[in-house]
Parts: sequence; C-alpha cells; structure tokens
Amino acid sequence: MANTYKLKTKNTCIITGVAGYIGLNLAEFFLKQDYKVYGIDNFCSGDRKGIKKLKIKFKNFIFFESDVEKFKKKIYGNNLIHLAAQSSVQRSSLNPIETIKMNILSLKPVLDIATRAKVRNFLFASSSAVYGDHGKKRINEQSKTNAKSIYAISKLANEIKLSLFSKKSKMKISILRFFNVYGGQKKKSKYSSVINLWTKRIIRNRKIILHDKGTVIRDFVHIDDLCNLFKKIIVSPKIYKCEIFNVSNGLAIKLSYFLKILLSSIEKNYEKKYSLSKIVNKKTPSDAIRFSIGDNKKIVNFFKYKSKITLKNGINQFIRDY
Ligand SMILES: NC(=O)c1ccc[n+]([C@@H]2O[C@H](COP(=O)([O-])OP(=O)(O)OC[C@H]3O[C@@H](n4cnc5c(N)ncnc54)[C@H](O)[C@@H]3O)[C@@H](O)[C@H]2O)c1
Repeated sequence: MANTYKLKTKNTCIITGVAGYIGLNLAEFFLKQDYKVYGIDNFCSGDRKGIKKLKIKFKNFIFFESDVEKFKKKIYGNNLIHLAAQSSVQRSSLNPIETIKMNILSLKPVLDIATRAKVRNFLFASSSAVYGDHGKKRINEQSKTNAKSIYAISKLANEIKLSLFSKKSKMKISILRFFNVYGGQKKKSKYSSVINLWTKRIIRNRKIILHDKGTVIRDFVHIDDLCNLFKKIIVSPKIYKCEIFNVSNGLAIKLSYFLKILLSSIEKNYEKKYSLSKIVNKKTPSDAIRFSIGDNKKIVNFFKYKSKITLKNGINQFIRDY
C-alpha cells in the first residue's frame, strides 16, 4: 500500500498559475507524459479556454479555480511548481501594492499547500529581472542582484524567504531565474511578450516600437526547452536544500536581430511585406533592462540541460502556429 501511494504522488505535479502562459504549456507537457497534474488558478490574468481544453483532453488534469491564498483542499504530490504571480514589470510600476500582495504575500500560503501535500520538490519561478543591468557581461548565479522594478523586488523577496524556509524544511527547493521565455501556446494579455505583441501588430500592418534602435539584448529560452528542464529537475537525484539556477541559453540576441527573423518568417508564411517605416524608435523605459544575458553553466552541469530549439526554428514554429 505504501508503494502505491509513493507511485501515485511521485508522478504528480501541483502547478500554481496553471492558466498562465507557462502554466498551460507546462501542464500539457506533464500530462502528455502521464503525470497527474493538479492546477490552481484564480483567472486574474489566466486563460479559461486553455484550461477548458486541457480538461477535455486529459483525465489526469484536476483543476481548482481558487486564489492560492484560499486554497484548502487536500491534495498530495511530490512536486509543486509555483508560477502564480503578477508577471508584468510594467504593471508592477503602475500598481506596486497589487504586485506586492500578489507576489510576496502569496508565497506563505503556497508553502503551506506544499507542506500539506508532502511535496519533495518545490520549484519557484523567479526572474532574470532580479539582476538588473550588468552591461554585456554574462550573468551567473553569483552575480550581484540589482532589482530595478517592484516586480524584480517581489521575486528577490521570495527568494530570500525560500532560502530561510529551506533551513527548516525537508523540501528540495529550486529557484529558477527565467530569462525570456517564448514560443508554444500563447495567451492573450495586455502585457504580452515582445513576440506576441510584434506579431499581432505586424500582421495587422500596425506600428511597432523598437527601443534604442534594437540594441537592447535578451537571452531567449524556448518554452519546450523550459518544459524539458522542469522534468530534468524533478527527476534529478541531486541532493540540495535550496539552489538558484539561471534558466537561459547564454546567447546574446539583439532585438533588431530578433525582429529581422520574425519579419522574414511572417513574410514567408503570410506572403506580405511589412514596411520598415512603421517601426518607431523609442528610448528604453527607466525600469526596463537594456542588456540581459545569462550564464547557464550551472543548469548544464547539474541537469545536463541542452537547448534543442534554435531561435530561428522557434520563431518559425511560432508563426506557423499563429
Ligand atoms: N514568461 C516569461 O518570460 C517569464 C520570465 C521570467 C519569470 N517569469 C515568471 O514565471 C511565472 C509564470 O509566468 P507567465 O508568463 O506564465 O505569467 P502569466 O501572467 O501568464 O501567468 C500567471 C498566472 O497566475 C495566476 N495567478 C496570479 N495570482 C494568483 C493567485 N493569487 N492565485 C491563483 N492564481 C494566480 C494568473 O491568473 C495567471 O494565470 C510568473 O511567476 C512570472 O513572474 C516568466
């Protein structure tokens, strides 16, 4: 009987923020691998249609519409992935109190869910935003943090709380500092990522904004690579209490280059040319980061992470499925 229980919970993931962009993609990934997924989301910015589709497609998907703060159901699982958050830097400047409430005050109730569920692996979605600007240098996990936005501060506060919590807990805590995640199923949002925002406007022949003539640098991670990494972390036999990991590819991509690939992919798939005169140049806002390149040696060494999707393939796939 003890074994049955172990088997049941081992291949179970509890995902908070499951109706969000990363949550929907990740839930589908684990469900396809026969995991049982418990999803929690209050739909404050989540996608109801995405959840409906998952419920129809997978009988192993159990969804709870709830604030994480109010969630009291008895569920058991070995792994909890905490994604629920106010995830926009821009919005955190407009409404700092909301971000503090949503991102910082929700961590304790999520840790309570994890404790009640007897979770072994706790994975937290942090962000490369905690580093601020380090110029064109590759940032590693030891690099100084320099949060420039309320959003980044909220992520750092949670990292500190998790590090303290790990000292008195048996859970293995992985703090994942995501760089720019792209690709896969999209989610409609006012604060969309650059690929969603640009694609939508380019296809409709509308103006797009390019900051500092496209010299802004990002490190893009395809959602499929991210999902594979989650699995590697969950099944990893490595023993640790609390570790921080950059989730990046270590590639410096100028946004002008990203736009060039995107335009060529749209031209190929939609057979229409976008006039470059529609690109509006603006200065990068003060709470945004100009350069962000992550050193990923730690995830490569710990989990044998290897990116499988090149930027060109990732963008082409995104446009084909758009
Ligand atoms: N997408 C990226 O490139 C990126 C980069 C760095 C970090 N992150 C982090 O990864 C996580 C997931 O990102 P995303 O892009 O999927 O964000 P998202 O905004 O699409 O999803 C967040 C989800 O959390 C839900 N939610 C928020 N507060 C909740 C609460 N109190 N109770 C229940 N549900 C709640 C929302 O309804 C939404 O469905 C976030 O924590 C984000 O900060 C994302």
